Amino acid sequence: MSASTAPLKLIAHPVARLTGKVRAPGDKSVSHRALMFGALAMGETVITGLLQGEDVLCTAAALRALGADISREQDVWRVRGFGVGGGREPDDVLDLGNSGTSARLLSGILASHPFTSFMTGDASLRRRPMQRVIEPLSRMGARFQSREGGRMPLAIVGTDEMVPIEYRLPVASAQVKSCILLAGLNTAGETTVIEPQATRDHTERMLRHFGAEVREAPVEGGHGKRITVVGWPELKARKIAVPGDPSSAAFAVVAACIRPDSDVLIENVGINPLRAGLYTTLVEMGADITFENRREVGGEPVADLHVRGGGLTGVEVPADRAPTMIDEYPILAVAAAFAEGTTRMLGLAELRAKESDRLSSVAAGLAANGVQHEVGAESLTVHGTGASPAGGGLVKTHLDHRIAMSFLVLGLGTREPVAVDDGSPIDTSFPGFMTQMNGLGAKIEAA
Ligand code: S3P
Repeated sequence: MSASTAPLKLIAHPVARLTGKVRAPGDKSVSHRALMFGALAMGETVITGLLQGEDVLCTAAALRALGADISREQDVWRVRGFGVGGGREPDDVLDLGNSGTSARLLSGILASHPFTSFMTGDASLRRRPMQRVIEPLSRMGARFQSREGGRMPLAIVGTDEMVPIEYRLPVASAQVKSCILLAGLNTAGETTVIEPQATRDHTERMLRHFGAEVREAPVEGGHGKRITVVGWPELKARKIAVPGDPSSAAFAVVAACIRPDSDVLIENVGINPLRAGLYTTLVEMGADITFENRREVGGEPVADLHVRGGGLTGVEVPADRAPTMIDEYPILAVAAAFAEGTTRMLGLAELRAKESDRLSSVAAGLAANGVQHEVGAESLTVHGTGASPAGGGLVKTHLDHRIAMSFLVLGLGTREPVAVDDGSPIDTSFPGFMTQMNGLGAKIEAA
């Protein structure tokens, strides 16, 4: 989808403060899963708060190609599913645009159907590793053809005679975990995933919500989990309210933190503990964030975040926190650039496998804007001075929405404006980003 979009250069100008109230857009991870589980259930699933980002629309299009009936009226989405194992052969290549979550999770569904299907994506997605899903799904009985190194385009020769496996994740990845659990749905017996470090658990929560049997037990001294799904459940259509996305809320939160005198309320932010590592870190850095009106939305904990700007101090972010904030390191690096003292972030190897090599993209963006830092194989150290960084740089986004949004936030507080070469990927996860930020007093515009 975004592959065909022309580059859109954007520039963020320094502003004194941000004020006002906004609502976080729907959670991307939960939105993908709501559509997929709706498709695998019998009856009509009704979804509110779904993220209308390009990534989620790619999932919807792929599920339609498999036979799901998906319609939308304003904020209400309705999915009439085909049931576990009831999808039909797509009659064309599935184009998943920029969306790794669509590609990894759908591969579990496709591999457990008795037909051949084909997936591709934009230049970013075609660079990303798929071997991590090819390997466990091959053990279950599916076959794959890929480009060198397990890259897309991918042909998936599926089967409805999958064998259940017990699989220990070699990387902490909720996408790989979810792919195996989804394949396990159309597999006789019990399929088990062992994750040495707990990752986001939206799939497990939603499996239960739709009526599947899922068992969990702690492993590795309590840091990880053993998750078992029982095959061939009858998933029943449900109502789902999608909570706001903590990964998208992060941009307004950090923008408020780095501009003194800011006062911003971000409503409806998901604070699932397996997603909330950025907020833990910001509070440790001295950010003034209060979690108001805590409640549950769609089986997920949610709060309104009241953020007041003020002095941040550098901290060390431990490696074992990485799975709970894996998408938030670019924006944390921006916060760290405004903090007084050094912030060290450890355990970042997975950042190299995201929409771009995020360690390199972040380091290049910091360098272009005069922020002192060091990048290691799996770590990033940012030296803040407590004063505004120079800015004035042009940041390459490499088709990575979070790089674009993070560096635009940087430019709200630097001495000179900050430009990004291509803001078009922002629509993959946060179509209203510019309007929302400008509504709070930011000055972001086409350059
Ligand atoms: C996601 C999991 C994460 C994250 C991605 C969404 C998901 O990827 O980076 O944006 O919805 O499961 P990994 O699990 O591969 O780290």
